[in-house]
Amino acid sequence: MDRTVVVKVGAAASASVCVVFGGVALAQYLVAKKKRAGKKTRIIEMMPQFEKPTVHIRDPERVEQIICGLIKGGASKLQIITDFDMTISKFAINGKQCPTCHNIIDNCKLVTDECRQKLLQLRNKYYPIEIDPYLTIEDKYPFMVEWYFKAHSLLVEQRIEKDKLPEVVRESDVALREGYEQFFDRLHQHDVPVFIFSAGLGDVLEEVIRQAGVYHSNMKVVSNFMDFDDKGVLRGFKGDLIHVYNKHDGALRSTDYFKQLRDNSNIILLGDSMGDLTMADGVPNVENMLKIGFLNDRVDERLEKYMDSYDIVLVRDETLEVPNAILQKVL
Ligand code: TMP
Ligand code: MG
Repeated sequence: MDRTVVVKVGAAASASVCVVFGGVALAQYLVAKKKRAGKKTRIIEMMPQFEKPTVHIRDPERVEQIICGLIKGGASKLQIITDFDMTISKFAINGKQCPTCHNIIDNCKLVTDECRQKLLQLRNKYYPIEIDPYLTIEDKYPFMVEWYFKAHSLLVEQRIEKDKLPEVVRESDVALREGYEQFFDRLHQHDVPVFIFSAGLGDVLEEVIRQAGVYHSNMKVVSNFMDFDDKGVLRGFKGDLIHVYNKHDGALRSTDYFKQLRDNSNIILLGDSMGDLTMADGVPNVENMLKIGFLNDRVDERLEKYMDSYDIVLVRDETLEVPNAILQKVL
């Protein structure tokens, strides 16, 4: 064979070997890169609780950033601000709706059948307004005031006795979300302040958490507390009314409490209503706030709005698994 031909064939052969090896190396590099990309690097991806179908997050990057801020701050910077009814307590068990603090009284033996009927009629009229996805908070506000005024007037007429409340709570169907012991006990262990801000009935709420064994010294309840006469009979309610849509003045009502917690600039807020989103309004010195919302009812029509407003939305999730998973990382 001619020498130049031999050289040409040799060059072509080594070029194709280069192409083959180059191709293999490139493929190996791409596979490795893909593997690296698929590796779980986000904290929220490392928590299996976030993989539940109940969990909805609009902006995972933002949630990641907030959780990192909470972890960095640890126990000493953290505080919890939470609603009670349908947030700490369950919304339903096997499709059967659980009672709110008000419903515990509505359904109890201290109330006459006639009064119970009237309270039920009020609920049937006003609860659909409370959760209506198409009305604004401004539209709903006067109806909520009306509901509370009428319901509380009916309760006062029943001359409810303070001493009977423990028994009434014991006999009720109220239930706290799965994982509540772990939630409250861990917060207590780490001395994290818990502010329960409820438009329910304070005396009933306190009795529920006392009977559940989780009313610890790190907790403060702000709610509608009953006013009893010197014989222990209900005669009215103390202080200004708290209803579902006036929670924005919570910090104003508890100025001293929040002043003392100036350094607790990281907040986890838990709620189930659009009204709960304003519970931390006016809290001074907020660095990181994670808003977790439970969406219990009329889910399809409300999910988008909830996802726009709450960082994490838990749909028909009767547990505190996600908040507990976050606390486990932070504390
Ligand atoms: P929360 O702020 O702890 O969620 O409590 C308020 C809930 O109580 C809210 O969803 C409306 C509900 N409620 C009743 O169930 N019955 C009543 O009579 C009233 C006035 C309120
Ligand atoms: Mg609620």
